Amino acid sequence: MADLNDPIVDDPSWWRNAVVYQVYVRSFADSDGDGIGDLPGITSRLPYLRDLGVDALWITPFYTSPQRDHGYDVADYTDVDPLFGALGDADTLIETAHELDLRVIVDLVPNHTSDEHPWFKAALAAGPGSPERARFMFREGSGPDGSLPPNNWESVFGGPAWTRVEDPSTGSGQRAQWYLHLFDSTQPDLDWRNPEVGDMFEDVLRFWLDKGVDGFRVDVAHGLYKEESLRDQVVKAGERPTSGQVNTDHSMVSRELNDEPMWDQPEVHEVYRRWHDVLDSVGDDRMAVAEAWTQTPESMAAFVRPDELDQAFNFAWLLADWSAESFREVVVDTLAAVAPVGASPTWVLSNHDVVRHATRYGGGEQGLARARAATLAMLALPGSSYLYQGEELGLEQVDVAPEDRQDPSWFRTGEVGRDGCRVPIPWGGDSAPFGFGPGDAQPWIPQPDEFKGLTVEAQTGVKGSTLEFYRAALAARRAHALPAGDEVTLVEANGDLLELHRGDLRVLLNCGSTDVPLPAGRVLASSGPVTDVLPGDTCVWLG
Ligand code: GLC
Repeated sequence: MADLNDPIVDDPSWWRNAVVYQVYVRSFADSDGDGIGDLPGITSRLPYLRDLGVDALWITPFYTSPQRDHGYDVADYTDVDPLFGALGDADTLIETAHELDLRVIVDLVPNHTSDEHPWFKAALAAGPGSPERARFMFREGSGPDGSLPPNNWESVFGGPAWTRVEDPSTGSGQRAQWYLHLFDSTQPDLDWRNPEVGDMFEDVLRFWLDKGVDGFRVDVAHGLYKEESLRDQVVKAGERPTSGQVNTDHSMVSRELNDEPMWDQPEVHEVYRRWHDVLDSVGDDRMAVAEAWTQTPESMAAFVRPDELDQAFNFAWLLADWSAESFREVVVDTLAAVAPVGASPTWVLSNHDVVRHATRYGGGEQGLARARAATLAMLALPGSSYLYQGEELGLEQVDVAPEDRQDPSWFRTGEVGRDGCRVPIPWGGDSAPFGFGPGDAQPWIPQPDEFKGLTVEAQTGVKGSTLEFYRAALAARRAHALPAGDEVTLVEANGDLLELHRGDLRVLLNCGSTDVPLPAGRVLASSGPVTDVLPGDTCVWLG
């Protein structure tokens, strides 16, 4: 049933203003008691998302996969892993979401497959020089006997980006080859210069479009093509080669301009022009959003030119320090970057790869106050906001015990990894599994006791709870931010105060610790209590 108050549902460019909720499938809701979230679990919780007030959900990969990188290692792009259900469950999820006026974005992983993908198995069996190997990046090693990797590239998950295979053909005098994996060794990179690869992904896009999905989140969209020479990365004196994407502990770092022959090659844009046509051929309301860790706002904007993808995650907002000046700079740069190509900006504070923002901002009461304030400021901005499951409950990064860690980067580097933001959602009850699954079935990462006060059940209807704050903020966004147009004016910087105006809406974010007088006006939303002053670490919308 279309909601007449909803300006987005009937808009073919719905994504331009959408709030998209990221579902990390393993950790959202478990319907069958195996401790792992699944598609029927998501379907059963769709009414919750509708009531929260989001417009769409993005679901992380649920395809057939050995789960070495929790689904980002795909063995069959057009089937559902039995862990998560069956294809019919995907159909039911999409249909139910649409009945509730929620759009569905699925994840597409085109940079690499799983090492259990039939193509990679065939490549290993076929040996050097075969057409099967030509779908991946197999190369001879360097050094006199080929026993060193072909170049100095590092995996994003740590260690060399190359693994040498046990080659059946080495008995015949040929040397064993190496294959490239910019992520885990179980995630071999495809060779996008081989036309078979592009054709295969066009089929995958069409398969899911036929199933009714509304869009795609394109994993590692800046990958795909590598500089053809596969030359060494030029590294600054005294530094090690770096993948340039995330820190080894998977907290994000600001990116300096690096030499990156493995990322963001000009040829990749041809792929997105082709996909644009595929999406268009199905309907003008289908979209794609890029996960592209590019080095500058301009190179990010290249992915969202009118004939390419529709949006790109804007990680600058997530990387910004807690300061009015940083937020201000990101808003100005982002709007300036997307304006020339006519794309809508995006904003995100948390996802399944980074430390949750309440923890990044210091944790505890202050971290949560800042997280809520940054969220409210974000929701005022034109464009789309991407939320990550559990942030609406004020969840923090969990300190997962070493024996419970499962992130492949933990196994490659011994660094903590990303498990702490992937702990299953607490829905209700007083003890684990907090309603995540039926009965006492314990989730795949243990939940901490502190989840007790943070469950959906414990926060629903409770004034001042983070969940009720998100509901109110999303309702206020529909009522006051969306109708206010897309023009943003940043008021001259004033110490710790970020002030921006969007039409009649005035947004004040106090990043300092001292109260500032609240200007006259009606309070439309606030991230915490306000009186005639705006306390530190608080955001308010005035009408
Ligand atoms: C993206 C995903 C991340 C995954 C990686 C490899 O960065 O967000 O979770 O590990 O790609 O597919």
